Amino acid sequence: MKEAILRLLKEARPDYLSGEEICKSLDVSRTAVWKHIQALREEGYEIEARPKAGYLLTGVPDRLFPEEIRHGLAAQLFGREIFYRDSVPSTNDLAKEMARRGAGEGAVVVAEEQTAGKGRLGRGWHTPRYKGLCFSLILYPPVVPSEAAQVTMLAAVAVASAIRDVAGVPAGIKWPNDILVNSKKICGILTELSAEMDKINYLVTGIGINVNQDLDDFPGELRSVATSVKIEAGRAMPRLKLLQACLAEFEKWYAVWLGQGFSPVLARWKEMSVSLHCPVRISTLKECWDGWAEDVDQDGALLLRLSDGSLKRLVSGEVTL
Ligand code: BTN
Repeated sequence: MKEAILRLLKEARPDYLSGEEICKSLDVSRTAVWKHIQALREEGYEIEARPKAGYLLTGVPDRLFPEEIRHGLAAQLFGREIFYRDSVPSTNDLAKEMARRGAGEGAVVVAEEQTAGKGRLGRGWHTPRYKGLCFSLILYPPVVPSEAAQVTMLAAVAVASAIRDVAGVPAGIKWPNDILVNSKKICGILTELSAEMDKINYLVTGIGINVNQDLDDFPGELRSVATSVKIEAGRAMPRLKLLQACLAEFEKWYAVWLGQGFSPVLARWKEMSVSLHCPVRISTLKECWDGWAEDVDQDGALLLRLSDGSLKRLVSGEVTL
């Protein structure tokens, strides 16, 4: 009912909508309408009430409510099913549970904050309430497990494109899938999967974007290496708009990948890369390699030219530029 009232208020804008019209359209009492209006206000919606004229929606909060995400969403499949939580330990963990319970292709798990967000290589990921964006997509790609890394790379292309479009900041990709702006990390991606030898049961791609954090929202040790959309663009950015753009771009690139294979994705990934054709240091859990980042192959592995002229192929690791 609350969602229905909200829809009517949105449709009526910029005009007031009388309480009587709401009652008639939805077949509810005046008292019920008033209670729902109050509930919407508590969620952050700004609704003016004027005697005789009725109600006018004057402000929508930057919350990631499913009905707001769907409103004006360009994606068709991604975001059709949305699991929203105010707070969650990790959207990836919840997404895995939802996938096991049968969530559909393109279902999204989104939260306002994570209390135990997970990063790559066993690290954590901090998403402060209402400031960061953390969401996970559930997918069932018809490929073998060794091709799953391609989905993470296409996610990087999609999210970097969305950040560029929405915020107008020069987002680039650092191998394998960190998104940087002005050499600082603005977004991380973590893909997890359940698979058998030759088949993926489900895949979860989790995306964390620093959106409206100020520098002092980051823990001290991250301040020199992390940034946010707000810091880079010089103004706060609606998280909702960025999430919608990410879903639309992700859906677009996923369709390209399913239809045409990895080549067009890899070509775009290379164009957006900030860690190719330059000297890099790669740290793996056991070793450290210095060399020239020469190329990325069809499996997404980094080809590193070492000082002795040999070519080293790396499938995972952390790049220092
Ligand atoms: C990295 O280390 O760069 C990857 C960070 C991935 C963070 C995202 S936030 C949404 C999803 N849920 C998690 O627990 N992690 C990912």
